[in-house]
Amino acid sequence: MDAFRFTAKTTTPISYKTRWQAPSNIALIKYWGKEKNQIPKNPSLSFTLQKCVTKTSIEFQPKPSLGLTFDFFFEGKPNSNFLPKLNQFLEQIRPYVSWIDQYHLTIKSDNSFPHSSGIASSASSMAALALCIMEVEREMDTAITDLQFIRKASFLARLGSGSAARSIEGPITVWGKNPSINEASDDYAIKIDSLHSVFSTYQDTVLIVEKGSKSVSSTQGHALMKGHPFANQRFDQAQQHLHSLLEIMREGNLEDFIRIVESEALTLHAMMMTSQPYYLLMEPQTLSIIQKVWNYRRETSIPLCFTLDAGANIHLLYPKLYASKICDFIKNELSLHCQQGFFIEDEVGMGAKKMYI
Ligand code: DP6
Repeated sequence: MDAFRFTAKTTTPISYKTRWQAPSNIALIKYWGKEKNQIPKNPSLSFTLQKCVTKTSIEFQPKPSLGLTFDFFFEGKPNSNFLPKLNQFLEQIRPYVSWIDQYHLTIKSDNSFPHSSGIASSASSMAALALCIMEVEREMDTAITDLQFIRKASFLARLGSGSAARSIEGPITVWGKNPSINEASDDYAIKIDSLHSVFSTYQDTVLIVEKGSKSVSSTQGHALMKGHPFANQRFDQAQQHLHSLLEIMREGNLEDFIRIVESEALTLHAMMMTSQPYYLLMEPQTLSIIQKVWNYRRETSIPLCFTLDAGANIHLLYPKLYASKICDFIKNELSLHCQQGFFIEDEVGMGAKKMYI
């Protein structure tokens, strides 16, 4: 994607320090299956979250020799667990931000959610890194427009982790080419406007069924979609679901919204169960929660639904109007199925923010 290569003339490097906060996101239409460099096999749509965020600062220090060098601190301490993923990310984006070789980077990162909560931090962390880097690029190339800034940040974040492309803007973004939205792209995500107002305050309570890392990572799961017997049908279904969901979200029809969102979650897990080798990430508690959500919806007619990411945890989605009733239901009934009763109350958010140091 040559449009995103840095072409401005660099001046003598000077020190910079930048700090950004980027959110996690939860997909309603799932990205599952990719080509090289996170080119998705189908479009995806997500809610940007508000409280589950990563805060990252980068100090850029000019250095005499060229090449990629960096230090990394997580929650105030040097941390080597993230180094391979970080190194891979920086190597991936290097052709597009060639000026970075003139600096030594000191990267410091914190998450608002506990690291062991089972909430993936790759989307928020890659998005925060991409934004810090873009801020310095804009210092060097003042001709960059706001739109170019946002799109290149999403593009760079995608090179770190596909779903990170959707963690720049909010409250709802789409990533991946599709016939319903002309300007949609496989390279970066875009924000979707003019949806029904109910979605601008939608709630997401994350029920933590299982803390810790998953037995099969998302990256391994994507790879198993190659040669998967139902892959092509799944990619077509995602296209159709996106087309319908956009219309439904414009109208605000919650019954149809729920039908598509829950079908996407269960299809994602059905793909895992029908991969070769097959595997299962839902836990018995995940199924107990799903059954209780369905019973609750039948008995109360309250439009509470769930989605899943690639793990055992459940995201409960509902309009703000019902927050207090649903909160009682969660505390009294659903938290019994959570690890140590743990859940995180979040809602849709407006995207990443620059932080003043
Ligand atoms: C199930 O973005 O984590 O959460 O591109 O390999 O880093 P990589 O995978 P990742 O996959 C996310 C998968 C998902 C669905 C989604 O967020 O759309």
